[in-house]
Amino acid sequence: MNGANTFVPLSASAIEAALQPHARAAIASVRVLEETDSTNTRLLAEPLARTGFEVLFAESQTAGRGRRGRTWHSPKGAHLYFSVSTAYRGALSLLPPLALAVGVACAEAVETVTGLPIRLKWPNDLYLEGRKLGGILIETQAMTRAPVHVVVGVGLNVRMPVEAGAGIDQPWSDLRGAPQAVDRNLLAAALLDALSTALLKFEAEGFAPFKADYARRDLLLDHAVEIHAANGETRSGRALGVDSEGALCVQSAPGVPVERLRAGEVSVRL
Ligand code: BTN
Repeated sequence: MNGANTFVPLSASAIEAALQPHARAAIASVRVLEETDSTNTRLLAEPLARTGFEVLFAESQTAGRGRRGRTWHSPKGAHLYFSVSTAYRGALSLLPPLALAVGVACAEAVETVTGLPIRLKWPNDLYLEGRKLGGILIETQAMTRAPVHVVVGVGLNVRMPVEAGAGIDQPWSDLRGAPQAVDRNLLAAALLDALSTALLKFEAEGFAPFKADYARRDLLLDHAVEIHAANGETRSGRALGVDSEGALCVQSAPGVPVERLRAGEVSVRL
């Protein structure tokens, strides 16, 4: 029954039991905390495991962080907040579009579990019905030599409590529209199945193998967009898609050269 209000806590053993064999082999540990400041902060502070992904979920975060210094509202038991810590051994120059590949993996997993059509808004957002469903925050720990300690953080709205929703300053969505009530443990396992595959593939091959799947879910593709630069300047253009380095291609008028926007340098609105 959709909308059932029975609270099922997250459980590391339930998540592990639902993992596919390839993910079970790739993941060194899954932990669930009742509360933490931020799963990203916590994993960044821990020593890097040399083999296997370390996964940390929390039922709530007291200092959940989004991109651009924003707060990620993390009400208790409502959503999924988790981070995956990994030793990245690929080329550093290929790392920037990792968030786009992670977005593709998360979108596929959420769509498989819920049947809901998930789109991606460049560079790091998951969208449902034109509103933000989730976000990705990738951080690295400065290391003097390879491998690089990379932490992939994912926040995904599952069932937004009324009070929490009122405090969010942008249109949001959650998974209540799914035909079946969402089991967070099964959704967590599906996300880890997809992420295990994606992280290994990205390390070996970069963003190129994800480009076509990204394009199929690209919310901005062929839309007029507003580009906001860090210095406060705003300009407009038409989004032409994402290239194999994860840059957003934008044209301000027909016939003028296409601009390649890099994540972190600008923000883009529809
Ligand atoms: C964004 O859209 O701005 C990114 C949001 C990322 C939120 C997740 S929740 C788990 C992990 N821990 C954090 O503090 N942030 C990420």
